[in-house]
Amino acid sequence: MTVNGVPVVAIDGPTGSGKGAISRSLAAGLGWRLLDSGALYRSVALKAGREGLGVKEPKALAAAASRMQVEFSSALDLEAAFLDGEDVTALLRTEECGAMASRIAAIPEVRKALWERQRAFARPPGLIADGRDMGTVVFPEAELKVYLTASLEERARRRYKQLIQKGIDVSLPDLSEDIARRDERDANRMVAPLKPAEDARVLDSTELSPEEVIARIKAWLGETGLFSN
Ligand code: DC
Repeated sequence: MTVNGVPVVAIDGPTGSGKGAISRSLAAGLGWRLLDSGALYRSVALKAGREGLGVKEPKALAAAASRMQVEFSSALDLEAAFLDGEDVTALLRTEECGAMASRIAAIPEVRKALWERQRAFARPPGLIADGRDMGTVVFPEAELKVYLTASLEERARRRYKQLIQKGIDVSLPDLSEDIARRDERDANRMVAPLKPAEDARVLDSTELSPEEVIARIKAWLGETGLFSN
């Protein structure tokens, strides 16, 4: 089933599974829109920090989530994010922001406040939706659902490489611990926990290159009749 006539591919998975880069590449290749839902939660985290809001203030956080103005780029080589008109591209990507986003994402009021906003990304010609609950909660009717995963060691290694390339100094053991903690929190929260949808296709990318992952997903897309290579 499409979402209001728009084909949607849901790509969910844990931190560092590569779903961000894969989703961006797929969206750019197909000329479809991209929803980086993690960036929305990260934006709420950033806004909360600026407004001095803590996790014990669900109503104020939900209001901030509804009020914030965000703009993201779907382009392959231009990962840009604007929050209330300010370029926050680099700020959103810090581990600190990711950890705060994970805590804020466990608050039902915040998830509810972001639901409509995420649904509105489904516009022609199609949408690649990247997150934790795209296939289970936000787009349960998505045509194709992929649950992308990889071993903890491999995910930590990939994230390490990514951060170092961006000039962000981190230690691999710290990063690994941080990712394990985030997995635990994202998978065990009461609302919309990280888990594959019943009809998701699980893809373990530990031993696969990004190109192989993309080819696999495109082949599945072909099976749905939405896209032929
Ligand atoms: O994918 P990411 O690292 O940018 O996401 C940051 C945090 O936001 C992640 O730890 C959990 C949360 N998140 C979520 O709960 N649901 C989503 N659909 C996307 C992200």
